[in-house]
Amino acid sequence: MRINIAIDGPSASGKSTVSRELCKRLNYIHLDTGAMYRCVALHAERLNTNINDDNQLIDMLESLAIELTDDGKVLLNGEDVTDAIRTDEISMAASDISTKKIVREALVEMQQEMAKEKGFVMDGRDIGTVVLPDAEVKIYLTASASARAMRRYLENQKRGIESNLITLKNEIVDRDYQDMHRKYSPLRQAEDAILIDSSDMTVTEVVDEVMRIISEKI
Ligand code: DC
Repeated sequence: MRINIAIDGPSASGKSTVSRELCKRLNYIHLDTGAMYRCVALHAERLNTNINDDNQLIDMLESLAIELTDDGKVLLNGEDVTDAIRTDEISMAASDISTKKIVREALVEMQQEMAKEKGFVMDGRDIGTVVLPDAEVKIYLTASASARAMRRYLENQKRGIESNLITLKNEIVDRDYQDMHRKYSPLRQAEDAILIDSSDMTVTEVVDEVMRIISEKI
């Protein structure tokens, strides 16, 4: 039996890493909805869109095509933007533009269409609450801001990017606040979601725990 799995949680909580690993084990398809908001932010920035003007947002969305490839690449109107959407600037711009109702409606529709069949692991902020309220398994994955900042710091170090731990933590706290307090579909744990705090867990431990939850459902 194939099911859909919703993984929500704050930024840098490990949603994408855990989702990718689950997909490998289950042979499911991963849909990283954060990457879609990041694409919108990059496209809007390139077009110089005023995000407070709904008409400009509509025009911007009409000229946007997002593709998430099977090998994990993100294409914006055919261009590979996998790395370009991962900058700190685009992280905050994605959080800003995701507060807009028009943007959310357009992306939620795309996401629901993409996951019409079962067999998806979708990660984001509103998957269990809005996008896939009927998902058979819902996980709310979180970790302390300090643990998340440290993970980002080590990730950056591996990639040769210099960063400051305190700045990273402040950015995480700011983005959490905006994502949790926006008017439309704020980040919150769905009533039927299972909370996993990964502050003191390895990726494998989290994946094993989610697999255990899934096996109870299937
Ligand atoms: O998961 P991420 O950090 O790549 O997401 C970037 C931003 O996109 C996040 O700060 C809020 C927004 N987002 C959202 O509003 N809803 C989603 N389902 C996924 C992301």
